[in-house]
Amino acid sequence: MAKKTPALRSVRWFGRDDIYGFIYRSWVKNRGVPQDQFDGRPVIGICNTYSELVPCNSHFRTLAEHVKAGILEAGGFPLEFPVMSLGETLLRPTAMLYRNLASMDVEESIRANPLDGVVLLVGCDKTTPSLLMGAASVDLPTIAVSGGPMLSGKYRGTDIGSGTNTWSMSEDLRAGRITLDEFHEAESCMHRSHGHCMTMGTASTMASMVEALGVGMPGNAAIPAVDARRNVLARMAGRRIVELVKEKVSLSKILTRQAFENAIRVNAAIGGSTNAVIHLIAIAKRIGVKLKLEDWDRLGRGVHTLVNLMPSGKYLMEDMFYAGGLPVVLRELGEAGLLHKDALTVNGRSIWQNNQDARCWNRDVIHTQKKPFKKNTGIAVLRGNLCPDGAIIKPSAATPKLLKHRGRAVVFENIEDFHQRIDDPELDIDERSIMVLKNCGPKGYPGMAEVGNMPLPPKVLKKGITDMVRISDARMSGTAYGTVVLHASPEAAAGGVLALVENGDEIELDVAKRRLELLVSKKELAIRKAKWRAPKPPLERGYWRLYFDHVLQAHEGADLDFLVGRSGPFVPRDNH
Ligand code: FES
Repeated sequence: MAKKTPALRSVRWFGRDDIYGFIYRSWVKNRGVPQDQFDGRPVIGICNTYSELVPCNSHFRTLAEHVKAGILEAGGFPLEFPVMSLGETLLRPTAMLYRNLASMDVEESIRANPLDGVVLLVGCDKTTPSLLMGAASVDLPTIAVSGGPMLSGKYRGTDIGSGTNTWSMSEDLRAGRITLDEFHEAESCMHRSHGHCMTMGTASTMASMVEALGVGMPGNAAIPAVDARRNVLARMAGRRIVELVKEKVSLSKILTRQAFENAIRVNAAIGGSTNAVIHLIAIAKRIGVKLKLEDWDRLGRGVHTLVNLMPSGKYLMEDMFYAGGLPVVLRELGEAGLLHKDALTVNGRSIWQNNQDARCWNRDVIHTQKKPFKKNTGIAVLRGNLCPDGAIIKPSAATPKLLKHRGRAVVFENIEDFHQRIDDPELDIDERSIMVLKNCGPKGYPGMAEVGNMPLPPKVLKKGITDMVRISDARMSGTAYGTVVLHASPEAAAGGVLALVENGDEIELDVAKRRLELLVSKKELAIRKAKWRAPKPPLERGYWRLYFDHVLQAHEGADLDFLVGRSGPFVPRDNH
C-alpha cells in the first residue's frame, strides 16, 4: 500500500468542515479571499520586518508585494505578517539586546499560524539573525530575502560608506580636520537611497551569509535595494518557496554543518563583520549544528580576503554587485578547494552548481585567491587569562604592526567613564597604551553594544596616529576598523578577568600565537577578585531582567539559554 503523504500544516486549519474550519477560513475571507484558496495549496508566510523605525527596511512593503506575486504565480497562498523589527541606528541601548526577543516573536508567529513555508524579509543587521534563529527553531521550508544595500554614498567627488566614513569623519571633526558644516553635509550624502549599509558591515555580511548558507537565492548578497533585479529576486523566492514546500525541504536540510563551514570561509573571504561570529553560532545552536568559536579560527586559516570593500578596503556593495557579486567569491573558494560544493541551497541546486560559472567584471573589487586583496585574514580567536573562553579580532581591519603588541592598560570602567575622560588632555595615555573597556558585554551593557572600537583620544589623533590596541567585552560595528579585540569571554559583568584589569597593568597581544595575556600574577588577581562585586540587573523586571538572567556569553552566541534548540513545526491545539 502506498504511504500516505502527510497533509500540509495549513490543512489542519483551512481543510476542515467543522466549526473550526468556519472560524479559520471565514475571518480570512474578510478581505476578499475566495474559497478556492483553501483547497490545500501551500500557505506561505511572508515575515516582514518593515518599520519606519528601521530605515534600512523601509522598502519592504514593495519587496513583500513581489514575493507575494511569486507565490501566487506558483500556486501558493501568501499571507504577510509583521514581526518585531530591529534598527541599528535608533534602538537604544543596542539592537542586539532585542535580537533574541525578536527571534521569539518570529518563532511563535510562524508556529502558531497556518503556515507551510515562510519567506523572511531581512535587512538591517539584527533582522537577519533574529529571523533565521526564530525560523530555525520551527524548521519549516524557509527562504531569506535580503533587502539589499543602499547605493554608494557620494560626497564631494568621492565615495563614502555607511559607518566606516561616519567613524573616520567624526575623528576628523574631533581632530579639527573638517568643519561642522562639512560633517552635516556628509550626513545627507551618505544614505541617499533605500537599503541597508553599503559597506561590508554586518548587514552586507549577513546578506552574504544568507547566500553562502544557501538559505537565500543566488545573488542575494549584493543586488542594490533599488535595482529592479532585487525585486526579481524577491519574486523568484516567492515562486521557489512553494516548490520547496512541495519538495518538503525544511530549513534543517539547508542549514547543515557544511553550510556553516562554507559561510565561515566566505566571511573570511569578504572581510566580513565580527558580528557574524555570534550570529552564526546562535543560528547553528537553534538548528542543532554544533558550531564553536574555534571553528572560525580553524576554517578561516588559509582563507584570504578577496573583496576590496570598506571597512577593510575602498569599494562599496554597489561596486561588488557590478563586479559579479558573491558568486565570484564562491567560485574562487570552490576552485581553491575551500567550499563544500555539494551543500544544498534553496533553489534546489548545490552551491557549486549555482556559482561554478560566475564571472568577475572588475578584479580590483573582487580579487583572485592567487592574488588576494589581503592574505590570511580569517577571524582570529584569542585565548589567555584575559579571555579563557575566547576573544576575537579581525586582522583584515587591523594595523599589521599592532597585531603583536605589549602595552600599559588605560582602563574605562564603562562607556560613560570612557566618554567622560577620553577627551581630557590630562588623560595619561599615548599611542603605545592599550585601551580597555569593561562592562559592555551581554549582561553588562546590557545587550553587548557596538562600542568596542573606542574612538582614540584627541591628543593621540593630533599626532596623526589612527589606530591603537583596544580590548573589551563589547562588539564592534561591522563597518568599523582598527586593532580591536572584541567579545572577551567571560565578560566583566559575569566576573571575567577583564573586570580585574587596573590602570598601568601590562597586557600582551600576540595574534599570530592567538594569545592575549594580562601580565599580572595569579596571587594579585585573586586579591582583586575577592574585592569584586557582581553588578545588579539593570532593571528588576520585564524583558531586560529576563535577558540579564538568561543570556549566554558571547562565545556561545549570546542567545537566551532556554531558546537554544528547536521545538519543530508542531500544530498547537485548537483555539476555541
Ligand atoms: Fe541598518 Fe547599517 S544601520 S544596516
